[in-house]
Amino acid sequence: MATRTIGIIMNGVSGRMGYRQHLVRSILAIREAGGVELSDGTKVQVEPLLVGRNEDKLRELAERHGLEHYTTNLDEALADDRWEIYADFLVTKARAKAIKKAIAAGKAIYTEKPTAESFDEALELSRLATEAGIKNGVVHDKLYLPGLIKLRRLVDSGFFGRILSVRGEFGYWVFEGDWHPSQRPSWNYRSEDGGGIVVDMFPHWNYVLENLFGRVESVYARAVTEIDRRVDENGETYVATADDAAYGIFELAGGITAQINSSWTTRVNRDELVEFQVDGTHGSAVVGLFGCKIQPRNATPKPVWNPDLKNEIDFDATWVEVPDTEEAINGFRAQWEEFIRHVAEDGPHPYDFLAGARGMLLAEKGLESHRTGARTDLPELSVDGVPASPAGAEAPTVAES
Ligand SMILES: NC(=O)c1ccc[n+]([C@@H]2O[C@H](COP(=O)([O-])OP(=O)(O)OC[C@H]3O[C@@H](n4cnc5c(N)ncnc54)[C@H](O)[C@@H]3O)[C@@H](O)[C@H]2O)c1
Repeated sequence: MATRTIGIIMNGVSGRMGYRQHLVRSILAIREAGGVELSDGTKVQVEPLLVGRNEDKLRELAERHGLEHYTTNLDEALADDRWEIYADFLVTKARAKAIKKAIAAGKAIYTEKPTAESFDEALELSRLATEAGIKNGVVHDKLYLPGLIKLRRLVDSGFFGRILSVRGEFGYWVFEGDWHPSQRPSWNYRSEDGGGIVVDMFPHWNYVLENLFGRVESVYARAVTEIDRRVDENGETYVATADDAAYGIFELAGGITAQINSSWTTRVNRDELVEFQVDGTHGSAVVGLFGCKIQPRNATPKPVWNPDLKNEIDFDATWVEVPDTEEAINGFRAQWEEFIRHVAEDGPHPYDFLAGARGMLLAEKGLESHRTGARTDLPELSVDGVPASPAGAEAPTVAES
């Protein structure tokens, strides 16, 4: 039995992420399970308030899922004490304005990434939230994927020895929308509407890298618009102004090199839509959303380069699959549960607005590297968000960065 209920304002709940991942897979799944269990064994139940611009859509959603509360009036929702958490799944462009209102209203806030359209704005949100003393969190969903949880265990158990490098491949073909409808909203391909694969994916890569391997100290990136014309939801052709492929090299604290390709213009020839290979002195691993296979050094085959002979080694067969040892729960839901515990009983949830700002810093520095063609250093941010100099480099001021 739940002892209390937390009301959650879900803004942008009719969108792709808002509906599928946050409402259906997370909040409704938690409701169905009777709430989130706290450390004393009691449960806290959740009650969503659906918020958006189109009342008919919200009514239809509420009816479909048997929900009582929906509104198009965000200000009224924020002024109402029944709703303790404000959650934001709007298009990126609309996010910072809404979050500032929620901070002023004193709500705990949980949001999709990127938290804002620029690093300065993301940092401002972090400062405002800290000054207001409100709990704040940003989606770090990839860290909660079964494959990455297995990877974390490999790192923590010392499996790799000294980690040398990380290679990531993310992407798939996003249809242009002409002969086949596109599977992603068109705003993603217009930079003036907050689109672009760097601002979309580099915030993810930042938290994956900093939480598993080390802080990103520098980036070299090339961001390209491979497909420059696409067709939108209304069948209109538009100019794709945003980058749809990005090729990045990231140097991490401790000397690890990471390379990650992000692309909406590649056809998949791997087991999963994202895959990382990690090579260490004592072993290597290849992980995806779900899978994780390893090759320890004692089981490493000995290929010999000889272009005159066909390779005889079945490389796929030389890897060992790490078994599932726990029930996998949806990553968005797992993080939601942590954030709800953070609000209800001050449970740990380290992925705050400052972590979101660091993600946006990497996106900005990646784009700067593309523009200048140079490797770009990232200043280290102290806990209050002030850049502290990286070793051997002059840190830019916040205004310059
Ligand atoms: N964590 C992840 O893996 C992941 C994946 C995809 C997208 N995202 C992020 O989630 C957010 C939403 O992306 P999506 O793919 O669901 O987009 P979407 O276009 O499907 O949904 C966006 C929502 O915002 C609303 N909206 C649009 N313009 C608005 C405006 N001007 N004012 C108020 N509301 C507005 C829409 O009605 C809709 O509810 C983006 O910030 C994106 O970066 C995260």
